Amino acid sequence: MQTFTVFNHAGGAGKTSISLNVGHELAASGLRVLLIDLDPQASLTGWLGLTDVQPADTVYPVAVDDEPLPTPQQRYGLHVIPSNMNLALAEPHMLGAVGAQGRLSRALAAVADQYDAVIIDSPPASRSSRSWVPSRPIG
Ligand SMILES: Nc1ncnc2c1ncn2[C@@H]1O[C@H](COP(=O)(O)OP(=O)(O)O)[C@@H](O)[C@H]1O
Ligand SMILES: [Mg+2]
Repeated sequence: MQTFTVFNHAGGAGKTSISLNVGHELAASGLRVLLIDLDPQASLTGWLGLTDVQPADTVYPVAVDDEPLPTPQQRYGLHVIPSNMNLALAEPHMLGAVGAQGRLSRALAAVADQYDAVIIDSPPASRSSRSWVPSRPIG
């Protein structure tokens, strides 16, 4: 399993478009793809038509309570962990907790045999990228 984080400090830079399109193309070529929406604005979630998302459906419990990944939703051949506005409250919890930065990474390791690619759509803020540490930089 390879994990890719799509990140740019700016909003409107194409992060969500890239996450969705690359994810779709990888899935169309036969790979098992998990998309994770890490942006409280939840554009990726909305674009996939996922509504009525509860905090327990998002990575909030992973980040705050060190829970396993929630069961993903399924759309267009993709597995998706959606977001909602509540996710904005996760980061303050994480910043005060020892080891919190690795929680998403550890939760993903537990499903490593289930996916070929994980694509994470980030919020447009540098602080957030340091808080979650979900993957190594590439390029
Ligand atoms: N390659 C592209 N060409 C033209 N418009 C694009 C392209 N990629 C994204 N956009 C548009 O730019 C806007 C912002 O893209 P988005 O993926 O939401 O950025 P971000 O996630 O970085 O905020 C959206 O309206 C999207 O449709
Ligand atoms: Mg976006």
